[in-house]
Amino acid sequence: MDRIATIADLREMARHKLPRPIFDFVDGAAFGEVTLRANCDDFGKLRFRQRVLKDIASRSLSTTMVGQPVSMPAAISPTGLSGMLWGGGGEIEAARAAKAAGIPFTLGMMSVRTLEEVHEAVGPVWFQLCMLKDRGLVRGLVERAIALHSPVLVLTTTWTVSGLQSRSVRNGITLPPKVSLRNLLDFGSRPAWVWRALTGKKVAFHNFVGLMKGEVSIGRVVGELDPSTTWKDVEWLRGIWPGKLVIKGVCDREDARSAMDVGADAVSVSNHGGNHLDSAASTISALPDVVAGVDGRGEVFLDGGVRSGQDVLKAVALGARGVLLGRAHLYGLAAAGEAGVAKALSVIRNELDVSVGLTGLTDVRDASRAILWPSEF
Ligand SMILES: Cc1cc2nc3c(=O)[nH]c(=O)nc-3n(C[C@H](O)[C@H](O)[C@H](O)COP(=O)(O)O)c2cc1C
Repeated sequence: MDRIATIADLREMARHKLPRPIFDFVDGAAFGEVTLRANCDDFGKLRFRQRVLKDIASRSLSTTMVGQPVSMPAAISPTGLSGMLWGGGGEIEAARAAKAAGIPFTLGMMSVRTLEEVHEAVGPVWFQLCMLKDRGLVRGLVERAIALHSPVLVLTTTWTVSGLQSRSVRNGITLPPKVSLRNLLDFGSRPAWVWRALTGKKVAFHNFVGLMKGEVSIGRVVGELDPSTTWKDVEWLRGIWPGKLVIKGVCDREDARSAMDVGADAVSVSNHGGNHLDSAASTISALPDVVAGVDGRGEVFLDGGVRSGQDVLKAVALGARGVLLGRAHLYGLAAAGEAGVAKALSVIRNELDVSVGLTGLTDVRDASRAILWPSEF
């Protein structure tokens, strides 16, 4: 860990720790991966105005996200099956690192570890779900989140139909899994990961065990994703969820207005990390449109392509209250479990702190377009 300077270094470490199909599951996205690249590249198109001699000796990165105090404007984004990156316990490792760093952790409904297990390890966490054809399942998940005092529910709207993960196709990953010689070689070359996988918790959607009748397979749960979902269903969810509600996947001002109309507390500008709609606009370029649509009626988060503290500051400067960290934390998790996520968060915190100071700010909450050179977005 001592030689890790950037999230890109953690990504390289993850590449060497994970069997290739698992690394590609994390690192890859849908179809031609145009949006995955754009999410990152478009941050690079923004440049700071460097400011000097403004007494930046004392600096604050603290803020709030939907009312919750956070030590920097970031939370962990929900990622399905991330438990498998670390012996079936990845979600707990990441949740511990997030708690120690003073930022929220969001557990995805498609996690390996259950909401109850993560709650037992770290206390209340944010919980994510997708709308499912069987609304009884949604109600069941919501009731558990209420019982475990989750303060925030994140509704993901970007996965109602599934984008084709090209790298998984090339790697021969199928549902149900089929064993090939190449896969055996890929997995055999990463014995530490395989050992942790064999001795850890079995990879499955354990949140659905007991909730769904019959055997819980990955295919059955994915088959529950409901492409007929509309804002009416979000209204229904708002009615049964008393806590804060974040709609993840809003990239357009009209959708932003609809989210506010149904009573959401925040939206996250998200294209699911490019995992489904390829050629969607990058999230940083869509952010100003969404901020205009929300028009101060709620908060705006952003996820997609955030790989540094500089990216976090750019998002805040363009109107985001905070960001959700997807792959940035997964690379750390795959590299070294809890210590790797802790490293990812400390890398981002340090970069953010330096960037806040050298753009002439002492409080990250004061970031605005004024710290950026003019850009196309
Ligand atoms: C491996 C992987 C699994 C994911 N699973 C989920 C999920 O179950 N639910 C969800 O809302 N988003 C999921 N996402 C999307 C992330 O929450 C987030 O939107 C995305 O990773 C942001 O892009 P970035 O990782 O390039 O920053 C997943 C992303 C990855 C890479």
